Amino acid sequence: MMQWGTAAKKLCELTGYETFLPLNTGAEAVESALKIARKWGYEKKGVAKDKAEIIVCENNFHGRTITIVGFSTDPDAYEGFGPKTPGFTVIPYGDAEELEKAITKNTVAFMFEPIQGEAGVLIPPEGYVKKVQKICKEKNVILIADEIQTGFYRTGELLDCQYESVKPDMTLVAKAVGGGVFPVSGVLSSWEIMDVLTPGSHGSTWGGNSAGMAVLEAVCDLLVENDFSQKSKNLGKFFMDGLKEIQKKYPEIIKEVRGRGLLIALELSEKARPYTEALMKNSPIGVLAKETHEFSIRFVPPLVISKKDLEWTLSIIDKVFAAIN
Ligand SMILES: Cc1ncc(COP(=O)(O)O)c(C=O)c1O
Repeated sequence: MMQWGTAAKKLCELTGYETFLPLNTGAEAVESALKIARKWGYEKKGVAKDKAEIIVCENNFHGRTITIVGFSTDPDAYEGFGPKTPGFTVIPYGDAEELEKAITKNTVAFMFEPIQGEAGVLIPPEGYVKKVQKICKEKNVILIADEIQTGFYRTGELLDCQYESVKPDMTLVAKAVGGGVFPVSGVLSSWEIMDVLTPGSHGSTWGGNSAGMAVLEAVCDLLVENDFSQKSKNLGKFFMDGLKEIQKKYPEIIKEVRGRGLLIALELSEKARPYTEALMKNSPIGVLAKETHEFSIRFVPPLVISKKDLEWTLSIIDKVFAAIN
C-alpha cells in the first residue's frame, strides 16, 4: 500500500495531475479511460442513458481489446472480431475542424495520440493539440491523450502534449512507466473526472500491485535524476540527420525521414519488410525496427542508447540499403 501511494504521488508531482489510476497494460488504461468518460458523461454532463459518444481518429492504435479494435480503421486489427462496440465516431487525424463538426450533444470525449506511432509516426500539424483542447473545453468534452507510446521523453518532453503547453483532461500512460521491465499503466486525471468511479464500479486485480508500483517509483526517480529530455532531443536529431544523409543516396526509395525525439520513421516508396528483415539479420548483431504498415520503418531506440550505438545503427542501415538496391 505504501508503494502505491508513494509511486502515484511521485507520478502526479512529475506530470502535474491530481490523481492516478494504476493499471497494467496500455489497453487496460484506454478501456478504463473510456469507461470513466462515459460515466462522467452520464453523471456530470447529463447525457441520456446509453447515448454517450466518443470520438477517435483514423489510423489510431490504442490496443487490442474487443472494444478498441472495433474503432480501429486498420483491417489487420479489426477483421474477424466483429460486431463492433457502438458509441464511437471516427474522424480524420490532424484536422481540428473535423472534430468540431463531429461533436454532438452526446459527445463525452475525444481520444487521440499526439503522434500516431503505430500508424508510422504521423505528426499532426503544429497547433493541432492546442486547437482540439480549445474545442473540447468549449463543448464540455473530455480530452484524452494516449501518450502510451509518446510519453516519458520518448519525443523529447515528459509528455508530447507539452510541446503545445497542453494538459489534457486525461493522459494515458503505459510502456515507459514500467521501465521496459514490468507491466505498469494507468490513467492520469483530475478528481472531478476520476471520482465518478466508486467502489465496485471499476477495478483490476493487479492494478497498483506492489512490484509494479516499486518499478513505477524507481522510474519516476530516474526521470527526475537524469536529463532524458536533452538526450532524446539531441540523439534524435543526430539520428535523423544521419538518416537524411542516407536518404540523399536513395532519394527514390526513402521518400521522407520524420520524427520527434527518439520516435523516428522512414517512409519508403516500396515495401518496408525486406529492409526490417535484413536489419534484423545483420551479422553478428542485428537491428530491430518495425515496419509500421507496409511502407514505413519505425525506429524506437531506448532512451539510454549512446551516440556510438546510433552511429553503428546508421552504418548498418546504410549497409542494408546498399545491399538491397
Ligand atoms: C499509442 C498506444 N496505445 C495503446 C497501446 C496498447 O498498449 P498495450 O500493448 O500495453 O496494451 C499501444 C501499444 O503499442 C500504443 O502504442
